[in-house]
Amino acid sequence: MAGNKIILHLRAETKPREARAALTPKTVKELLDTGNFEIYVEEAPQSTFKTEEYAKVGAKIVPFESWKTAPKNRIIYGLKELPEETFPLIHDHIQFAHCYKNQAGWEDVLSRFPYGGGTLYDLEFLENDQGRRVAAFGYYAGFAGAALGVLDWSFKQLNSDSKNLPGVSPYPNEDLLINHVKTELSKAHKKTGKYPTVLIIGALGRCGSGAIDLCTKVGIPESNLLKWDMNETKKGGPFQEIADSDIFINCIYLSKPIPPFINYDLLNNENRKLRTIVDVSADTTNPHNPVPVYTIATQFDDPTVLVETTKGPKLSVISIDHLPSLLPRESSEFFARDLLPSLKQLPNKATAPVWKKAEDLYKHHVARLNKPKF
Ligand SMILES: NC(=O)c1ccc[n+]([C@@H]2O[C@H](COP(=O)([O-])OP(=O)(O)OC[C@H]3O[C@@H](n4cnc5c(N)ncnc54)[C@H](O)[C@@H]3O)[C@@H](O)[C@H]2O)c1
Repeated sequence: MAGNKIILHLRAETKPREARAALTPKTVKELLDTGNFEIYVEEAPQSTFKTEEYAKVGAKIVPFESWKTAPKNRIIYGLKELPEETFPLIHDHIQFAHCYKNQAGWEDVLSRFPYGGGTLYDLEFLENDQGRRVAAFGYYAGFAGAALGVLDWSFKQLNSDSKNLPGVSPYPNEDLLINHVKTELSKAHKKTGKYPTVLIIGALGRCGSGAIDLCTKVGIPESNLLKWDMNETKKGGPFQEIADSDIFINCIYLSKPIPPFINYDLLNNENRKLRTIVDVSADTTNPHNPVPVYTIATQFDDPTVLVETTKGPKLSVISIDHLPSLLPRESSEFFARDLLPSLKQLPNKATAPVWKKAEDLYKHHVARLNKPKF
């Protein structure tokens, strides 16, 4: 702290094609307006936000990757995991670190914090008093996934089966994405005289509500949307209704083994309507993946993978695991806005439940380190 101010240092994202940012110019302004913050923002060549936008609201612009040599009293704030390096981390870091669920290499990632005397506040596990996550990117994952699903279905109506949906790049804003999807959908509608039926499972969650909103915004009639959640799947899969829909969007949070939603018996059928699966949940490598008809995570530059069916029309899966990056500006704004009330509590970090719980969780996992590397 400088005086009693919290000093935040927004780290530039370096993961390939990551254009999102943990803090947006709007949220920087809101934090500065409280009088409790001093904010440094790194020059970030990949970011969808320009450094001038941050400077205009009062942030101090600092060089790319300058967090590494920044004074220890700054809280380093970023979204994605740090590049694979080994030097000890002396600062407090707020970020997604992906090292609490025994992921490959978790000990190497986590041990850098106690080694340097820093602390990790993992964004994935920031919870309010009721144990609900305070901020997540799910809404725009569902929104972007549904957009790609509708694009793929439309593409299939307009092109021969020898062609696959071309790659996509991040859209500067939501309106441009919606207009593009609307245009392709209306071309397909003109040709076929129909709109796709879309079955969304996990419809009551964050991803599910984003998927529903996209479908509505591009003009798919309400009567074409089937919104399923726990109630509708309690009878147990596989479900014929999926094969009978044009697009299936899986948005569930998989917390325990469940029977598959779909299998090859249902897919290998000449009467199958299903052309596109969007697996927003993307539990691709999970042995209990309820959509066990593909094995790879697809990418924006080649969004679909073919399902090896023996009967019925061509069927593809979209299984991109970083969907919100398709709309970096809106998804960053959405996430930052949700996190803002918690960020405003940083001056009381030691006692505010959201930060206290995150610190306790960090200590819990540090205690699990088998052979501390420090
Ligand atoms: N692909 C991506 O880029 C991306 C981005 C963000 C999140 N995700 C993933 O999407 C998933 C969902 O995230 P969320 O934030 O929307 O979660 P959430 O908790 O807000 O919603 C999940 C919904 O799934 C429902 N559900 C769970 N099990 C079900 C079942 N067996 N049948 C029917 N409904 C079921 C829940 O009732 C809930 O409504 C997570 O696995 C998350 O990791 C993917």
